[in-house]
This record gives sequence, structure tokens and C-alpha cells, in this order.
Amino acid sequence: MFPCVLNGPVRCWMKLTTSIRAFTAVRPRLVLGIETSCDETGAAVLDDTGIILGESLHSQKQTHLDSGGIIPPVAQRLHRENICRVVQEALDRSGIEPNELTAVATTVKPGLSLSLGIGLDFSLKFVRLHEKPFIPIHHMEAHALTVRMLHPVDFPFLVLLVSGGHTLLALAKEIDEFLLLGQTLDVAAGDSLDKIARSLSLRNHPECSTLSGGQAIELLAKEGDRRAFHFKTPMGQIYDCNFSFAGLQNQVTMAIKKKEKEEGVETGQLLSCVKDIAAASQHTVASHIAKRTHRAILFCKSKGLLPQHNPTLVVSGGVASNEYIRQTLKIVTDATGLHLLCPPSKLCTDNGVMIAWNGIERLKQGKGIMSHTEEVKYEPKAPLGLDITSEVKDATIKVPPLKLRINS
Ligand code: KG4
Ligand code: ZN
Repeated sequence: MFPCVLNGPVRCWMKLTTSIRAFTAVRPRLVLGIETSCDETGAAVLDDTGIILGESLHSQKQTHLDSGGIIPPVAQRLHRENICRVVQEALDRSGIEPNELTAVATTVKPGLSLSLGIGLDFSLKFVRLHEKPFIPIHHMEAHALTVRMLHPVDFPFLVLLVSGGHTLLALAKEIDEFLLLGQTLDVAAGDSLDKIARSLSLRNHPECSTLSGGQAIELLAKEGDRRAFHFKTPMGQIYDCNFSFAGLQNQVTMAIKKKEKEEGVETGQLLSCVKDIAAASQHTVASHIAKRTHRAILFCKSKGLLPQHNPTLVVSGGVASNEYIRQTLKIVTDATGLHLLCPPSKLCTDNGVMIAWNGIERLKQGKGIMSHTEEVKYEPKAPLGLDITSEVKDATIKVPPLKLRINS
């Protein structure tokens, strides 16, 4: 029998370990997330329940709008000028000291090399100075997981990511396990909307001068007649889940040039029919995205890849904040019995919160956590998960027609 009376030092030690356990049990894990993969310098401090304790975001949008597109060295300079302030602001607003952080999570792939480099250099210096674990983040994985910060979405779920740099459909099986069902073969949806907006000179429109191309098109499309122009939905005869927007962009540019000639409008001036062109372009982009997503749903169902109970489609990325595109996707999910979830607009575009949340998800599962002494490199190109796009194509699934009638 062990004596039930403990002597002084042992009793003290037990008390200490109990209080350490109690302390660690209630003490939330805190992650600082840093994003610089493209044109937003973002930072946020989150706790492990997804509460945003502090955040800060510097957008380079206006500079790039003024110069007609992202110039990587300019993006790099702006990240360099802002990263310190943005991270400090996020920390100050959270009231958390660097030594209280559990880890730092930073986007290291994919993205613009010059932009990724600034976030990574800063983060490595930060974690070395404060001796904190480092969690390298895949930007698209972060977009895909953001929704779980707000809703208890279980794996597996289908995810559509539509941004300025990417357009892809994937099945999320785990926080770090994806099946790539389809992706853009040329430009991303957001990029094509940005270029269409530029061809329409929407920067010179009084209501659009500060909006991204996609936002400007959405705004003007509300008052436009989409039937005034007909653009062909891309890849109608190709039965896979890949996307293509370059041809559509070309069709729209040709239509704009033709109208400019007819109306005697100089480049840079606004056409009388900008709203109609915006509405028709937005509708064609929405319809293309909807058809590919519909096929992805049917493919996943045919292979038993989605759960019987509450199968979900998550839509994220900058273009996912487009209400018309969301409504089009809702028609598809209603017809196929899926639940549609989109994070709020603020979390659909690039930000530090989604990176911090991805850090929390990885921390909880002990996946991809590195010591502050380890070397980490950024990767401008990085596919998301296992590519099964050819298997999807081989299934040649024909999508039944759906009436995509949206009240704008
Ligand atoms: O996710 P994001 O902030 O950055 C990338 O990783 O690309 O997405 C930015 C893209 C831009 O192309 C922008 O035009 C588009 O998202 N976007 C929109 C809307 N808001 C932003 N596209 C359509 N409708 C919107 N409301
Ligand atoms: Zn993004």
C-alpha cells in the first residue's frame, strides 16, 4: 500500500503539475497568421475557437488599379513597407504579446515569388526572435478551410475556389488532403473579370474607380440587361470540371471593340452599353462556373465521395463574394441536394485571418508544425492535393440543363 500522506515537496510538485495542467487546459492556443502571397498584406491573431482577437489588412488594390494590373516588384515594395506595421497592429489590437503566441502561420505557397518572400522573411525573423513554432501555409488550403472557423463543416466536403489567381474544384478530405477535380486551363475567373473591367475602362466610371474589376462588374451588372449580348459559355462540349476564361475574355473584348467603333468611342471612354456587357459577362462566368460545379457534384456522388448526410459545397476566394455567382451556385446545390456555404465577403478575399485559422487547424492536429530553427522556402507554384482531373474527364458526365435565372 502506498502511504496516502504525501510529504511536503511531493505535495508541492503535485500541486504545481495540477495547476500547470489546469492552466494549459483552459489557456487557448493563439496563432498569428501572416498573408502576403499576392496584393494584400494581412495579419491576424486568433484563438483556437476561431475568435479574432486582432487583425490588420493593407490592400494594394488601388495602386494596382491605377497601374492597370499587379506589377510584382511594386507589390513587393508595398509588402515590405507595410508588413511590420500590419503585424504590429494585429498584435496591438489583440492585446497579445509575441511571447504569448503558440505559433506563427504564414502563406508560403502558391503566389508571387516577390510577395511570398517578404512574408516569409519577416516571419522567419519573427519566430527566431521569439522562439516560436512556425506553420507554413498553402494559400488555397487556407481559403478552403476558412468556412470551418464559422460553421462546423465536417470532412469530406466539396470546395470551389474562385479568385484572381485561381479557379479550382476540389474535394476536401482532411485539413491537408484534397482531391483536385478541376482547375482553370488558362486565366482565373477573377483575372478575366479584372481584364474585362479594364477593357470597359470601368476605372473611369464614377461609381467604380475604387472597386476591383470583379466588384465593378457586379455593381454595373445589377442595372444591365444580360440578354443584350450573347457570349458563348466555355467548354460546352468538354465533359470535365476544368475551366477556361481566356476565350470568353476574348469574345468580350471583341464585342467591346466592335461597339467602340459603332459608337465612335475612344479607348478609355465609357460605352453606353457598359452595364449590359457587364451583366452578360458576369452571367457567362457564373454559368460556366455553375456547370463545372454541377458536374463535380455529380462525379463525387457517383463515386460515393460525399457524405449521405448534409453534403456541402463550400465556395471561397475573392470572386465568391459575387452575389450573382452565389445565387447561380445555389440553383445548382438546390437541384442536387447540397448545402451551400460561403464565408462572408471579408473572409473570401485575401486576409490574415484565414491564414491564422489554417494555423489553428494544423496546430490542433499537430500537422506541419516546424521549429523556429528550420529552413523554409516559398513555392510560387503549388498544386492543391492529388490531381484526379483526368479521372473526372474519363467519367464524361453530362450535366442536365438547369434554368439559371437570377433576379439581379
Ligand atoms: O481571393 P482574392 O482576394 O485574391 C486572390 O487570391 O486572387 O481575389 C481577388 C479577385 C479579383 O480578381 C477581384 O476582381 C475578384 O476577386 N472579386 C470579385 C468580387 N470581389 C472581388 N469578382 C466578382 N465579384 C465580386 N464581388
Ligand atoms: Zn486568395
